[in-house]
Order: sequence, then structure tokens, then C-alpha cells
Amino acid sequence: MSDILFLRNARLLGTPVDLIARDGVIAAIGEHGTLDTPADATVHDAGGHILFPSFIDAHVHLREPGFEYKEDIASGLAAAAHGGFGAVMCMANTRPVNDDAAVTRHIIETSLRHWPHGPRVYPVGAATVGLKGTELAPMAELAAAGCAAFSNDGAPVPDTEMFRRAVEYAADLGRVVIDHCEDPYLAKGAHMNEGATSGRVGVKGQPDVGEALHVARDILLADYLGLPIHLAHISCRRSVELIAWAKVRGVPVTAETCPHYLILDDTALENYDTNAKVNPPLRTPDDVAALREAVKSGVIDMFVTDHAPHAAHEKETPLDEAPNGISGLDTAVALTWGLVREGLLTEGDLVRLWNREPARVFGLPRNGFEPGDPADFFLFDPDEAWVVSRETMHSKSCNTPFLGHTLTGRVKAHWMGGRRIA
Ligand code: DOR
Repeated sequence: MSDILFLRNARLLGTPVDLIARDGVIAAIGEHGTLDTPADATVHDAGGHILFPSFIDAHVHLREPGFEYKEDIASGLAAAAHGGFGAVMCMANTRPVNDDAAVTRHIIETSLRHWPHGPRVYPVGAATVGLKGTELAPMAELAAAGCAAFSNDGAPVPDTEMFRRAVEYAADLGRVVIDHCEDPYLAKGAHMNEGATSGRVGVKGQPDVGEALHVARDILLADYLGLPIHLAHISCRRSVELIAWAKVRGVPVTAETCPHYLILDDTALENYDTNAKVNPPLRTPDDVAALREAVKSGVIDMFVTDHAPHAAHEKETPLDEAPNGISGLDTAVALTWGLVREGLLTEGDLVRLWNREPARVFGLPRNGFEPGDPADFFLFDPDEAWVVSRETMHSKSCNTPFLGHTLTGRVKAHWMGGRRIA
């Protein structure tokens, strides 16, 4: 097989184009019909489908090492490849925790063994040893081994002095800390958002102010230190308003949110659906409205999935026993395409939120469809309807509240470095 790909009749931001990829990079791109088919090229007719650069998901849980019954690196990357993601940043709450360079290397080597051509894996190192929040992790060794960022995701760092040191060391290493914003005292023992719905169904909730308190702390700290902090999975209006205030002042904070916070609210837990149990929890319709506005305006910088697979036996329990998390890599692109269909976002917004901004914030390579860029892209049928099910998902775990839903828009083919990976 030649290593030249000729992709014919794809639609790039509304324009029909042809593309030539050679030796792993974009060699040429032009309006449909204007490029000659190179000799020896593998030709693929895109049939007018949308051409997206491979998306970047800066927040996933791949579960390996330690929790391979939920997901392993190979299956998580299958979900990424078929879901349109060419790069994932995987969180450190594995067993053992990724607070040791040997774990970082193991994750990278395992990913390359199973998916040598991508999706690429960028491990996120623990900010503190064992994610316990009491001792800094060996951040320099972790960065040298390949960690792209640091985070205690899943377990907030209540000790602000410890958190400050992590932010400073990360900056020295050219990395950013990703903070899971949650006041652990206000969130203790909670299984959903605190509000009218939690009162009605009789489940202990956590108030949104618990997230916003840590967002405010981080903004003040980033301002004081003059150092970047990235705010993970933002879920509520209070946080959005604080981030908007910080951005007007030029504070170097960035923020992410997930598709589920833009589509569902806490009434999804009215029937105690454990697949809708996630942390931070689904909030109120007013929070959903605020987040939609914030992704449109850029107050929220990027989308992430927070892909958090859990096994069926863990989710088939009473709500208060189920773990938090939604398996997201398989459905994310179709779910956010829904926001384009609704008229909230444009195709260009998706590229900004899923590709350009995560690459910028974390310093990752990206395809901007310029000659010389990595030939990482996927074709997307904007009209194909499909049902979310065990059969249509590639993740080992299908713990998603969208199970059984019909989504519109589907990834049809995916190339990385000009090689077909899905
Ligand atoms: O819902 C969640 N699941 N939130 C987190 O912060 C952690 C994650 C997990 O690891 O399952």
C-alpha cells in the first residue's frame, strides 16, 4: 500500500475539498476538482461528508492499570478512534496511581503497542502522591516520562498551600494543573445536585457553591501567582460567572465542560438512573442555559468528555451505592453535533472547542489543514441516525444516560498520520 492518500469530495467548513496526505502530513488541500490524483495514491471518496481535524479530549479515564474490568487502554482507544478523537489526556486515578514515572511509561508504551498510529495518549500525572493531597508527586520525573499536565482529578486538593506549590512546580516544568473544583466538605455524602429535584426524590445533594468556591480560589490564586490553572468539568452558572469575571481581568485561567452538562439536567435522576450519576453532578436547567452561553461565547474554552467508564455490576445498584461517571468517548461528537443542529454552535465552534483550544492550552500538535500539518482527520456524516447501545459503543462500559437514545451524526472513517485507524 502506498503512503499517499487522496481524499476526494469532503466538506471542510462548508467548502467541498480534495486533500492529499503524504508521509503522514497534509501535502496539499484544494477545492474539489482542482488537485490531480497522485500516482500510487490510495483514493477515498468522502461522498461529501464533513472533514474534521481529529478531536482532542483533554479529560478521560482509561482505567489501566488497575481497573481493566471497566476499560483498558486498548478499548478506550478504540472508543476514541471510532469516536473521532486522535488524542486523549488520561487522568491519574488508576491503581497504582500515576504518581510514578514507571506508571506513565507503562501507559504510553501500552497505548503504542495496541494503537501504534494513534490515537495518541498524553498521561496526566497526579499532582499529589496517591491523590491524597498531602505530599507533592515527583512532578519533574513525571513530566520527563511524558506527562502533559498534572491533576488530582476525582479528588480535590483542599490544602491551598499544597495546591499553590503544585501550580508553581507545574509552571516551572511548562505544564498546567487541571483542577477538579469541589469543596469536599460541602460535597460529602452527596449523590446528586442539591436543589428542588434532590429534595423531591429524597437523595442527599451537593450544592453548586461547593464547585464555585474552588473556582473562586483558583482564580484568585492564578491572579496572585500570574500562573495558569485549568478548571475541570465546569457544571454550573456560579462557576461560569466567576470565570467570565476572571477572563475580563486577564487572569490566566481556562475551563472545560462536558456534553452532558449542556444537554441534561438533574431531573435525569428523578428515576434514580445511576447512569446519570456523575461528579460534578448534573445541575438545573438554569445552569445548562449558562453553560450553553459560555461555550458559545468562549468563556468556557473547550469540550472534554470526562469519559468515566464503570462496569454494569457497579452501576446496577441503588443510586447511593453507584460510582460517579459517564462513558463518553463514543457519543461525544454526535451529542455536540446536536448543538450545531439546534443552531447554538457552528462547525467552526466544534473545531475550536474540540481541537484548537485544547491543543493551545496543553501544547499538543494539531491539524489545522495547512500543508505540513499532521494528517489527522475524520469524516463525519451529519445526517446518519444511530442508536446508542452495547453494539454501537466501543468502550468496555456503556454507562451512559444516552443509552437507547437515537443520535444524529456519525464518524465514518478516521485517519492519523494519513493511516486509516477507524
Ligand atoms: O464522575 C466522575 N467520575 N467524576 C470524577 O471526577 C471521577 C470520575 C471517575 O474516575 O470515575
